[in-house]
Amino acid sequence: MLDVEAVLAQMTLEEKAALCIGATAWDTSAVERLGVPAITMADGPHGLRRTTDANLLLTQSLPATCFPTASCLAATWNPALLQQMGEALAEEAIALRVDVLLGPGVNMKRSPLCGRNFEYFSEDPFLAGEMAVALINGLQSRGVGACVKHFAANNQEFQRMVISAEVDERTLREIYLPAFEAAVKRAKPWMVMCAYNKVNGVLASEHRQLLTDILKQEWGFEGVVVSDWGAVRDRVKSLAAGLDLEMPGPKPSHARAVVEAARAGLVAEAALDDAVRRVLRLVDKARRTPKGGDFDAEAHHALARQIAAEGMVLLKNNGVLPLTGVASIAVIGRSAREPYFQGGGSSNVNPTRVDAPWDALRQHGAAIRWAYAEGYPADGSPRQEFIDEAVRVAAEADVALVFAALPPLSESEGYDRASLDLPPAQVSLIRAVAAAQPNTVVILNNGAPMVMSAWIDSVAAVLEAWMMGQAGAGAIADILFGKVNPSGKLAETFPLRLEDTPAHLNWPGEAGKVRYGEGPYIGYRYYDAKALPVLFPFGFGLSYTTFAYTNPRVSATTFRDVDGVTVYVDVTNTGAVAGKEVVQVYVRDRQASLPRPPKELKGFAKVELQPGETRTVAISLDFRAFAFYHPKYQRWVTESGEFDLLIGASSADVRHTVTVALESTVALPCALDAESTVREWLADPRGRAVFGPLFEQMRREMARVMGAEAGGEPIGMDALNFMLDMPLVAVLGFQEAALPAPAEAVVAGLLAKVHGGA
Ligand code: BGC
Repeated sequence: MLDVEAVLAQMTLEEKAALCIGATAWDTSAVERLGVPAITMADGPHGLRRTTDANLLLTQSLPATCFPTASCLAATWNPALLQQMGEALAEEAIALRVDVLLGPGVNMKRSPLCGRNFEYFSEDPFLAGEMAVALINGLQSRGVGACVKHFAANNQEFQRMVISAEVDERTLREIYLPAFEAAVKRAKPWMVMCAYNKVNGVLASEHRQLLTDILKQEWGFEGVVVSDWGAVRDRVKSLAAGLDLEMPGPKPSHARAVVEAARAGLVAEAALDDAVRRVLRLVDKARRTPKGGDFDAEAHHALARQIAAEGMVLLKNNGVLPLTGVASIAVIGRSAREPYFQGGGSSNVNPTRVDAPWDALRQHGAAIRWAYAEGYPADGSPRQEFIDEAVRVAAEADVALVFAALPPLSESEGYDRASLDLPPAQVSLIRAVAAAQPNTVVILNNGAPMVMSAWIDSVAAVLEAWMMGQAGAGAIADILFGKVNPSGKLAETFPLRLEDTPAHLNWPGEAGKVRYGEGPYIGYRYYDAKALPVLFPFGFGLSYTTFAYTNPRVSATTFRDVDGVTVYVDVTNTGAVAGKEVVQVYVRDRQASLPRPPKELKGFAKVELQPGETRTVAISLDFRAFAFYHPKYQRWVTESGEFDLLIGASSADVRHTVTVALESTVALPCALDAESTVREWLADPRGRAVFGPLFEQMRREMARVMGAEAGGEPIGMDALNFMLDMPLVAVLGFQEAALPAPAEAVVAGLLAKVHGGA
């Protein structure tokens, strides 16, 4: 155990600077003289990538379980399962002598093209936050640290180390930060990793507002802020901004720069001490869990299979699934034998083993006649002889299972996807097979949405199997044969066309900047607001059974924001097999002083039901479920009024709406000034009290004058609405002749009354 303060007191300036920079690609620096050991980090996020050489970034790593990637994890909507996965990851970390796992990644899926979307949970910050909290809790409950990444606004790979995400404060607070906020406040991760990119012109590694003001001060983060690997340009600036640990190391020039800056008084020693304290506390925490030993690879493989099965999403089914009473099956597509189960880059795991669908399927149906055709050659090019062979085996069988996958390395860290299409060779393959075999089922392996218009209408069923991890093949077999009833639902919208996607006109940016012009309208928030049709909506997924939602009710129809409200609904399994349903609650603000998305996910629950069984689902909504971030007041606010609570099976399948009345307890300071518009003055109760009577008088006078000028009767009051969006000082300026004093003086008088309460 380390006495942090005693160690700190004995450290030289040089030792402090060195401690805040790694010693190798993965280890922190030890201070042997004072008994401070090094600790080890490893990627992350869906399996351990424990390299065999501490000095190399990308090299062989020790075998570890490759769990499904985050797209699939989020589609489980099952935090309890993610907690279990976190515990398993911790066991592997302990066995492989890793103190902190570099994950989870909680960046938002702003565009389906981001090359790293497979590593991220969702387009929705609430869902991403819930998943992250569960995974972190699982890991840390076993004494292994989590490192939430990449903070913040790292939503594309294009120019990721230079580009500046130009994003307004409200959007940042409502969309890009809440998953980090939930993770930090509720799960207390040991580390947070800053992003490579700039945010509004400032490198995330030097972003004082993000790293210190928001993360440490506002959210109370007590752990270590680590750089993304190689994200630090200026160690002194980054230290001053709140970046505690630079990775990888060693970087003697950076350590020297810190020492010199401290000596010259350019960086406060207190700032350095704060970073040192955080690193020492981390080392102390990590060392409390002894490392080494084995992990149960078989059990973890089984868990990976269970998670994969729960995250896979049945997108279409004309009744062909589950497969029963089939005598012969044609399996088509290279990915049935060479599974596409994880992505490229730092998250790439060396799996303990990998199951192939071709083998897993045949274990289920020993009595079935099986045939296989590759479908397309290894280089992915369209070749007629491969298609002809596939059509032949498909036509001879009762059912054709076509395995379609994105080409190897098409989804990776470091670059984005260029399109949402499946390669042409596979599109031709699906169409040809479907034309020959009406019972064609497509199984997709990909980490992010693809478009399907070219082929989906021709097939009988589609299973989204994601980057399913090393045990995903068994999960596919379990679902196709009905051993597992699918219960995954999409954590991201599948659009009809790339051109429909929210960031399309602002992607991927130019001249070093990417403008988040769509604001908070990403994912379903955007498609809802634009009333755009989509291929598959957020929250959607089919089951082999059906569920009825009845008896919706709330704990109170009128409530204070700080008390929150609970929504109840009875869910009944109305089909013939057991199944799990994800019940979702979206909140709609019926009237707000700022534009808000038509609805936002604020709660969900997954419930398992036997045929005929009914359960009451309870979902609680707190202050934040109703609040929005007001840039003017720089805080979360609620406004009194009516809200709709939409209870649904997906974002597009709302079964019940309950309207409630919220009483806001938020007391806002009066923000009126001379430049505030007439509308703002009238919307504010204090403004209305002092200015309302004068305004009415002005309006009547103006109506009379304008009407007379037009040679007729007084004109209608509506014609005067043009005044509402003018600043008060300008409106009064036009009326100055009728005022007792210059417009500025009248405004000053009104402001004195408003602010002084006179
Ligand atoms: C990635 C991080 C990763 C780190 C270490 C970086 O390139 O962005 O997510 O944890 O490398 O491999």
